[in-house]
Amino acid sequence: MTKTVNVAIVGGGLMGREIAAALQRWPALIDHPVHPQLTAVCDINPAVLDWFDQIPTVTRTVADYADLLADEAIDVLYIAVRHDLHHQLYVDTIRAGKSLLAEKPFGIDGSAAEAIVAAVAANPQSFVRCSSEMPFFPGAQVALNYVRSGALGRIIEARCAFLHASDLDVDKAINWKRQARYCGEAGVMNDLGLHVWHVPLRLGWAPDRIFGVLQDIVTERPALDGGRERCDTWDNAVLHGWVSRDGYSFPLTTEMKRIEPGEKNTWEFEALGMGGGVRFSTKNPKRVQVFSLVDVPGGGREQVWSSLDAGSQSVWPTVTGPNFESGFSDAILQMLAAFLAEREDALGERFGCATPNEAAATHEIYRAAIRSHETGQVVRLGG
Ligand SMILES: NC(=O)c1ccc[n+]([C@@H]2O[C@H](COP(=O)([O-])OP(=O)(O)OC[C@H]3O[C@@H](n4cnc5c(N)ncnc54)[C@H](O)[C@@H]3O)[C@@H](O)[C@H]2O)c1
Repeated sequence: MTKTVNVAIVGGGLMGREIAAALQRWPALIDHPVHPQLTAVCDINPAVLDWFDQIPTVTRTVADYADLLADEAIDVLYIAVRHDLHHQLYVDTIRAGKSLLAEKPFGIDGSAAEAIVAAVAANPQSFVRCSSEMPFFPGAQVALNYVRSGALGRIIEARCAFLHASDLDVDKAINWKRQARYCGEAGVMNDLGLHVWHVPLRLGWAPDRIFGVLQDIVTERPALDGGRERCDTWDNAVLHGWVSRDGYSFPLTTEMKRIEPGEKNTWEFEALGMGGGVRFSTKNPKRVQVFSLVDVPGGGREQVWSSLDAGSQSVWPTVTGPNFESGFSDAILQMLAAFLAEREDALGERFGCATPNEAAATHEIYRAAIRSHETGQVVRLGG
């Protein structure tokens, strides 16, 4: 019989509702080892909790997350709150022995991340991973598996990007994500950084040098009281890195932008090598482009970029027809499937959610990028 896992959500805002909705689509997964049941939700705003009334399994709504930590029936917490709250809530959850799917950036800064990693090490009964769903797009998985196959040969360069443009609207009101005291000194890197670093870090592409190009383009925004408030977070960040492996180095560029005209949640990955290449962008979510050298009938070799449609299947099989399209909500479902399967030690070789060490490593990269931007120098990491 499938094991039931009781899940609680802390923070019922944008992401809390997304995760709640994804859990309702669980029957789409084939032969998953667990059946998660959303039983409780915590939010300090009672109006937010009303939305969860429509989910029949939710029998408990609370304003204080400590009530959920004391509830022996709850196995797993998904926590989606402001970045300045991550440290306390994550550490308390881990110490209570609950499993945790944390939202990025896994603490507001490096010292918060270190404290959370230390709590994980001291409480092995708590299974902890950090949210990063974009690599679960089927096309992203095709690209990742292409790189893992070794088809690139010697790597020339790689790039990963996450691009938005809603902040192009200078009349958009200020919110906590645009204020350093809540979002963190790393600004857009805290918001979008784990999305772009999850795959490179999983591939073993930790950079040893970083040059950071950071921009604070919109410096104030309308406040709720009708006045203006300082908007003091980095809007755009481009990090030029060098990755050293197999006796050579290659450039790895990551782009995290809130202001990239024309883009809405676009995640891109590209890797080029002497033997092949691969490109994927959620802008064309079915299409994966692959580069190869092709023998041409009649003689000679040509350089060819070809395209394939990725279909619907990602990490965990679903009832969805293999030729159907996939989207953001499907990627969220796949991330949850990977998290709960790995918690049962049933993920095998399949791609998993970002680990505590991977999530914490991103803060070292952001810190190096800020220092590089301030000094105009390349900053070395590690060792
Ligand atoms: N994975 C993704 O694609 C993605 C997308 C957006 C945001 N996020 C991350 O999710 C987290 C939350 O972002 P969001 O957009 O959902 O924010 P949000 O502002 O929409 O929601 C946050 C919710 O937390 C509640 N809250 C505040 N303090 C609380 C407390 N002490 N206890 C319980 N609830 C509390 C608020 O009332 C609010 O309803 C952040 O870490 C953010 O970076 C991830």
